[in-house]
Amino acid sequence: MASTEVESPRVYVSAKQAEEYAVSLLVANKVPQQNAETIARCLVEADLRGVDTHGINRLPSYMERLRQGVMDPKASPTVEVKTPVVALVDGNNSFGFLAATAGMEFAISAAKAYGVGMASVKHSNHFGMGACYALQAAREGMMSLVFTNSSPAMAAWGSKEKIIGVSPLACGAPGGAEKPFILDMAPSTAARGKLYKAVRRSEKIPLDWALDADGHKTDDPAAALEGVMLPMGGPKGSALAIMMDVFSGVLSGSAFAGNVTGPYDPSKVSDVGHLMIAIKPDLFLTVDEFKNRMDFLFRRVTQSEKAPGTDRVYFPGEIEQLNHESRLKTGIPYVEQEIRNLNEQARIVGSKELQL
Ligand SMILES: NC(=O)c1ccc[n+]([C@@H]2O[C@H](COP(=O)([O-])OP(=O)(O)OC[C@H]3O[C@@H](n4cnc5c(N)ncnc54)[C@H](O)[C@@H]3O)[C@@H](O)[C@H]2O)c1
Repeated sequence: MASTEVESPRVYVSAKQAEEYAVSLLVANKVPQQNAETIARCLVEADLRGVDTHGINRLPSYMERLRQGVMDPKASPTVEVKTPVVALVDGNNSFGFLAATAGMEFAISAAKAYGVGMASVKHSNHFGMGACYALQAAREGMMSLVFTNSSPAMAAWGSKEKIIGVSPLACGAPGGAEKPFILDMAPSTAARGKLYKAVRRSEKIPLDWALDADGHKTDDPAAALEGVMLPMGGPKGSALAIMMDVFSGVLSGSAFAGNVTGPYDPSKVSDVGHLMIAIKPDLFLTVDEFKNRMDFLFRRVTQSEKAPGTDRVYFPGEIEQLNHESRLKTGIPYVEQEIRNLNEQARIVGSKELQL
């Protein structure tokens, strides 16, 4: 939550209702049932984890892309196996969730058989929350690396030209008795989705997130969307964003170097690239040894001595998992305007609405 955020009343929606809403909307927009279920699961998983920037509130922008004909509702990705451990996935301009899931599915099956698996994904779209695919691997007991490129939102360090994306990297490793390691981060101070969320909720943003079109610091998310996001760690964040473009865009044959179209621009095909890697964790040790060591690391980190002013030390991905557990019980908190926007989409196609 942005430090300047003014809390507006929340409407709690169960994960089941949110998923039913999303599936119904997608199917009514000509997405095949099974694909709709995969997309809905990824979106609702983001909302459950508190990654509200990448949940069902993204659906109106995706539906607009379908209506404008720049994304294909009926398409499914195709997988071309290149070597026993490498595949090229063509997203065929389907939803990014489908191409990324198919890529990780191949990577997991190759890793189970050969120790490591990799899928390069081209002609895809926005894949939402990177953790979705790291969790897919973790559920199968696999370690993972998840890369994507994205539309231009940041300048390379020292430049004022917006050419690189705030492209996230995610990675995961299963734990034993403790929670898995799930790192999922954009290389910017904050994901750009946090600006869209602040606009939706009429909230301000911290001053270190972005510059406006004139290069000034701003707490206005709409002005920030006209400007540039700021990289985390200066040149290092900028370099990580370029790394995502090398491994996702250049390698796969998809768009790169500022040529990916963003999910909120319905004028053109996106042509996003991803890279999905799965690694079998018991390549060098037994699986029990690996898990015990992960649990030891988890406890060492979370039980380490707290700095003054810190209530608790968290493992990467732990806050999101705790959100997941509590939101499964309480429901997912949306603001009323978000529900109204989502129901407007439902009314266009006569699909299931959410209860206010
Ligand atoms: N598909 C796209 O093109 C795209 C682009 C940008 C971002 N995103 C998504 O946006 C989401 C948000 O990204 P972000 O960079 O703003 O994430 P974030 O800053 O909220 O979190 C980044 C990471 O830091 C960890 N973390 C956060 N606070 C912590 C704490 N106090 N202690 C320990 N660990 C902590 C989290 O578990 C997470 O792994 C991600 O899911 C990302 O994949 C997607």
